[in-house]
Amino acid sequence: MDALDDIRSKVVACTKCELCKTRTNAVPGKGSHGADIVFVGEAPGRSEDLSGEPFVGAAGKKLSAVLEKHGIARDSVYITNVVKCRPPNNRVPTQKERDSCINYLQGEIDAINPKVVCILGNTASNSILGQAEITKNHGQVVEKDGRRYFLTFHPAATIYNQELNAVIDADMGRLAEIVSKMRDA
Ligand code: URA
Ligand code: SF4
Repeated sequence: MDALDDIRSKVVACTKCELCKTRTNAVPGKGSHGADIVFVGEAPGRSEDLSGEPFVGAAGKKLSAVLEKHGIARDSVYITNVVKCRPPNNRVPTQKERDSCINYLQGEIDAINPKVVCILGNTASNSILGQAEITKNHGQVVEKDGRRYFLTFHPAATIYNQELNAVIDADMGRLAEIVSKMRDA
C-alpha cells in the first residue's frame, strides 16, 4: 500500500470531526499518484458526498472542461479538498474542521510532491497559505516552505459571477504553460 492508499483508508474511516456524523461518504482525493499538479478545492458537495469522489458535480464539470481546454487530462492530475467530508448545506467548513482534516491534505501533497499545487478559491487559499486574496493574487505562483502554489478562483464562483469564466480560463492557460515549462527545464 502506498502513502496515498494509506491516507485514503484513514479518510474513509475518519471520525476526527463532527462532519463524520452527517456525511454519506468521506471523499479522499483522486487522480494520478505521480501528478504534476494537485488541485485543492474547499469541501465535497452533494454529488461528491453521494459518490465518494471529488469534483463530480456542477463545479467538477466546469473544472474538467477548463482543464481539457488547456490540454490537461483529468486523470493526469490529482484532485482533492481541504476537508474530506461534506459540511451540511455546503456551508464553509469551520476552522476546527479544517484543522482536524489538514494533515490528510498535507499527506497527499507530500506523497505526490507535485510541481505545483493549484489552489481553487479562498477557503483553500486561507487554509494553505493563511491568506484569502484570490482576487489580488490569482494567476500567480506563490512559494511557501519550498513549495509552489498557483492561485485561481473556485469553479463554483462562476455560478454567481459569469465573468469569472474568462478569468479562470486565462489562469488555467497560464498554469498549463508554467507546468509545461517546468517539465522542459
Ligand atoms: N466543490 C469543492 O470545493 N469540492 C468538490 O469536491 C466539489 C465541489
Ligand atoms: Fe475526518 Fe476530515 Fe471527515 Fe472531519 S472532514 S471526519 S477530519 S475526514
